[in-house]
Amino acid sequence: MKIILCYFSCTGNTKLACEYIAGVLKEHSVELFDMTIKKSPDFTKYDLCGFAAFTDYYGPSKLFEDFMASVPKGNWKRNAFVFNTHAGASGKTLLLMRDYVYSRGYNVVAAASLTAPVNFPPQRVNPNDETDINPNPEMLEKFNKFISQLSSILEIQKKEEAVPECKIVLSEEEMNWPYCVRIASREDMGLKKTDEKLCTRCGVCVKKCPYAAIELKPYPVFNQKKCYGCWRCYNICPTKAIYTKKVKNNGHYPAPAEEYKKKLRIK
Ligand SMILES: Cc1cc2nc3c(=O)[nH]c(=O)nc-3n(C[C@H](O)[C@H](O)[C@H](O)COP(=O)(O)O)c2cc1C
Ligand code: SF4
Ligand code: SF4
Repeated sequence: MKIILCYFSCTGNTKLACEYIAGVLKEHSVELFDMTIKKSPDFTKYDLCGFAAFTDYYGPSKLFEDFMASVPKGNWKRNAFVFNTHAGASGKTLLLMRDYVYSRGYNVVAAASLTAPVNFPPQRVNPNDETDINPNPEMLEKFNKFISQLSSILEIQKKEEAVPECKIVLSEEEMNWPYCVRIASREDMGLKKTDEKLCTRCGVCVKKCPYAAIELKPYPVFNQKKCYGCWRCYNICPTKAIYTKKVKNNGHYPAPAEEYKKKLRIK
């Protein structure tokens, strides 16, 4: 069976989890697709389509919303699943993702979240032994069960039988988290500046900004209207030259934490 798994990942946690899903389902052909590439693939070639993102202020990011809007709307009721990583307070993200995918004409047959290390620098400024502890064994087991569920869904599809839509049951606490407008992260992050003594003008931030909000002139210039406050530039700058009013030279999460990588290594 052919599966496509489209993901938005700023610092690699979601991407790694998607690679893990692909690895466990290796008897099928699982293609990973980076949503930041923008052009939406030909979904009609796949038996099952997955959409993955990280939680960004209790919801999926603006980029996820824009990507979903670019997915051709069909009435074919193709089967799809949604998956997200978060740092412990995902709110209604999964429900919102399900609604976006559903609105493009898909039958959402599975959904899951995985708690991962936090990549939000203001929360990483005073790290301790617990900072990168997630996912715990129980969370990992749930994640593995979700992948087994995908496997069973593919078996049902092989027999050309209908797969029922999934139910997403969230806790009362999760349902109580607010839905924030997509500019909440931008407003929270505030203005970004570059320490010109540290900046080597390598252009990494320009290349990696998911929203094309940075230009080198000759140092980075941030277009605040285009920025959605994802902190990717801050996190990945090789010389830690980017700073905000809230954080400077601290709390970076450039790539998945070693402990997290170990947990998602296929044995
Ligand atoms: C701007 C921003 C907002 C975030 N908002 C939330 C949130 O509301 N709830 C949560 O649990 N984690 C939140 N996180 C943490 C990420 O969702 C989490 O670390 C995720 O695994 C990062 O995935 P990635 O490495 O694929 O980008 C946020 C991170 C960033 C950078
Ligand atoms: S990634 Fe860092 S060093 Fe490179 S251009 Fe951007 S701010 Fe400068
Ligand atoms: S400028 Fe930085 S924080 Fe803003 S969207 Fe681009 S990478 Fe994200």
